[in-house]
Amino acid sequence: MQWRRRHCCTHTAKLLYLLSLLGLLVFLVHQVWLPRLTGMPWWRSHPVVYGGGGLHAIKAKLNTSSQQSMWRFVIVPRPTLRADANSSHEKDGVASPQADPRFGNNVATNTSQSEEGDLSSTITHGPFPYIINEPDKCVESRPVPFLVMLIATEARKVEARNAIRQTWGNESVALALGFIRLFMLGKNEGELGLLQQRMLEAESQRHHDIIQQDFLDSYKNLTIKTLMGLNWVAMHCPRASYVMKTDSDMFVNTEYLIYKLLRPEQKPKKNYFTGNNMRGFAPNRNKNSKWYMPPELYPSEKYPTFCSGTGYVFSGDLARKIYRASLSIRHLHLEDVYVGICLAKLRIEPTPPPNEFLFNHWRVSYSSCKYSHLITSHGFHPNELLKYWHHLQSTKRSACINTFKDRVGRAHSKRMNGRRQA
Ligand SMILES: *[C@@H]1O[C@H](CO)[C@@H](O)[C@H](O)[C@H]1NC(C)=O
Ligand SMILES: *[C@@H]1O[C@H](CO)[C@@H](O)[C@H](O)[C@H]1NC(C)=O
Ligand SMILES: *[C@@H]1O[C@H](CO)[C@@H](O)[C@H](O)[C@H]1NC(C)=O
Ligand SMILES: *[C@@H]1O[C@H](CO)[C@@H](O)[C@H](O)[C@H]1NC(C)=O
Repeated sequence: MQWRRRHCCTHTAKLLYLLSLLGLLVFLVHQVWLPRLTGMPWWRSHPVVYGGGGLHAIKAKLNTSSQQSMWRFVIVPRPTLRADANSSHEKDGVASPQADPRFGNNVATNTSQSEEGDLSSTITHGPFPYIINEPDKCVESRPVPFLVMLIATEARKVEARNAIRQTWGNESVALALGFIRLFMLGKNEGELGLLQQRMLEAESQRHHDIIQQDFLDSYKNLTIKTLMGLNWVAMHCPRASYVMKTDSDMFVNTEYLIYKLLRPEQKPKKNYFTGNNMRGFAPNRNKNSKWYMPPELYPSEKYPTFCSGTGYVFSGDLARKIYRASLSIRHLHLEDVYVGICLAKLRIEPTPPPNEFLFNHWRVSYSSCKYSHLITSHGFHPNELLKYWHHLQSTKRSACINTFKDRVGRAHSKRMNGRRQA
């Protein structure tokens, strides 16, 4: 009897212990996956945000002018309610469209008038002719592409392109739905440029996934590169349901993006734009900064909401709308900010993603559980991409179950060890 009671009690204790572990796990998972439940993500509430490839711990530095040059943007203090009430135009994006006629104040009205109908008319290749094009890639896709993946890259990043072809950019990831991949490039100068061009043309012959226009491929010309991608979709694939723009050093969970965020079973959205939403950022005015924005180029003290250029997703109809808006908006070299300005002119506000953990413009430490529930992570060497991708495929059905078992198992054995010692 005594034995049985003790036996049953240890069982109950075990059960309670497991339940509390489960509770803790659920709590932790919520903390990680749904940071919005706990208010603003921690980095949003800091006065300054990010630099090149990652978040910087906020160090108490006294020299604020040199500090500013480390960050790409500065968050503007939240406006008071009174000021907010009087500046309703700010909600529409560009802070003061009236003050800056260069932004072409009439774009929004013009575009909405001619919204549907003339799908590919009036769009030309723009100021730079295509050197390499795939005009039939979309037409040949059956069905009409659900997703067009536009990947900004440079000629020398051959390995990165090959890794992407084998991993998240493999068109058979969602063949039945229509999924196409295009690498976007400009042109390089000099002898090396000529050599690279010949290799690129061979690569294009082999894979048919490269588009290139005749502009100098440089960091400051990234906006032209993105506009080329939008132009391609508008001209050659206007009925694609969705488009994603990303870079060749990214990890993209294409399946999660398609099946969990975009959801092919639903009617495709219109005027939809999402990604890592950057809201309330101000131009960097430090002349020494890589992200310096001259007031002459952008006089307003605040950028409209934009999505980090490391990865954003939009409905196919917007390719044409953004491209057309860009025709009357002076180019800025910050590609993602520029697209945000075009959206603001179209009076389209980016949709926040369902949770803050999906689109990461920094590198998320790898675990199969985390990576099976995010869309982008930044800063990958081609070899790492292959390694993590294959690991993720092999643990597909049990990505998080294993983590759970591991944790419980570890906790359990720790407890047993503790007992033995006692
Ligand atoms: C702060 O940094 C700026 C530019 O980086 C420099 O010109 C200035 O002398 C620095 N001031 C101090 C107090 O260190
Ligand atoms: C708000 O804007 C209106 C018209 O633009 C102006 O007459 C008024 O003085 C403004 N109010 C404040 C508090 O700035
Ligand atoms: C893409 O995936 C398919 C099916 O998994 C595979 O057969 C093919 O080899 C992959 N393509 C590349 C370039 O790795
Ligand atoms: C961008 O490309 C154009 C066309 O090739 C070129 O004239 C210009 O110098 C480039 N701009 C930069 C900043 O590289």
